[in-house]
Amino acid sequence: MNILLTGHLGYVGSVLTPMLRERGHTLVGVDTGFFVAEDGETAAPASDGGTHRLDVRRMGPELLQGIDAVIHLAALSNDPMGELDPALTDAINHRASVRLARMAREAGVERFVFASSCSLYGAADSKGVLDESAPFNPVTAYARSKVDAEAGLAELAAADFAPVFLRAGTVYGLSPAMRFDLVANNLVGWALTTGRIHLESDGSPWRPLVHVEDLARAYVAAVEAPRETVANQAFNVGRDDQNFQVRDIADTVRAAVAGCGLEMAPNAGPDTRSYRVSFRKAEETLPGFEVRWTLEKGVRQMVGALGQRRLTREEFLGPRYIRLVRLRRLRESGRLSDELYWSTAGSRV
Ligand SMILES: NC(=O)c1ccc[n+]([C@@H]2O[C@H](COP(=O)([O-])OP(=O)(O)OC[C@H]3O[C@@H](n4cnc5c(N)ncnc54)[C@H](O)[C@@H]3O)[C@@H](O)[C@H]2O)c1
Repeated sequence: MNILLTGHLGYVGSVLTPMLRERGHTLVGVDTGFFVAEDGETAAPASDGGTHRLDVRRMGPELLQGIDAVIHLAALSNDPMGELDPALTDAINHRASVRLARMAREAGVERFVFASSCSLYGAADSKGVLDESAPFNPVTAYARSKVDAEAGLAELAAADFAPVFLRAGTVYGLSPAMRFDLVANNLVGWALTTGRIHLESDGSPWRPLVHVEDLARAYVAAVEAPRETVANQAFNVGRDDQNFQVRDIADTVRAAVAGCGLEMAPNAGPDTRSYRVSFRKAEETLPGFEVRWTLEKGVRQMVGALGQRRLTREEFLGPRYIRLVRLRRLRESGRLSDELYWSTAGSRV
């Protein structure tokens, strides 16, 4: 298939790109490159040929000619980035997504796989386990943008246009474009660089976790599945036994890093974002999809690989790995405008 993949230079996109190629698909990548390293840092792997440094808000219909499916990952992709500017989060994550899908439908693209998130379930009763029919209860600008995008995309569904929503749990694991602002990766980073795990909350909230490779496999399954099994359907992506309380994630990391201690932020209280999710639908109905990773295995993989890199605390908490820090720096230095467009003439758009 000819697939247009937005956000291909990101944490998930960098793992998904080679998987799609291995399956024989031809890729057109579109990414504005917020996190592409400069100044001697190791760059995220660029997609070969067909790569466009472009903001999805400014994308025209030309790149959609001859495309069979769009996988739309590009977004301000977590809660802290969403709070940077809630209106921008809406503009990029919601309105630009619906605009892109409308252009795709008009260009004859048949499938549009959208990177949604379990965070749209928001604050939920921790006793219940949520399936895809559960009510939304978004508690952040990021989560609201995903709810609104799903609603706008569902309205575009037609006999010849199939939106598909993959609601991923919080992702973890090694990627060529590594991030440490995701809960499990963050705790591994603290453990390796300081010998202590630092918790911002009291550790009680529930989070469903999914390894980045398993999520990438779900995208492959969602583009390749027969139309009738996925059209206008939402799928939670993760595994039932991979719902954890944050303190359990901390314990898993401590078990993998010898001598690791635990500290909580002063006045740490419960986090309002807490939800447990049922993942049966994807495992039962997405052809060929199965979750292969467990948190324990993924943490050991990260500790093994990152331990060898001898990461410092400053690096781990800096702009290379924490997305909000990077965007703030790029804005403060004038490289990015307040609306997050590149301002260096001619370099990026
Ligand atoms: N990582 C997670 O835990 C998680 C969980 C659920 C859903 N998701 C969703 O999956 C998708 C991918 O997440 P990720 O972790 O790879 O994020 P990421 O931030 O690592 O990558 C996103 C990529 O999109 C690009 N991008 C952002 N805004 C853009 C724009 N306006 N135009 C063009 N490119 C733009 C960035 O440059 C970046 O390379 C996102 O939509 C995110 O909301 C992620």
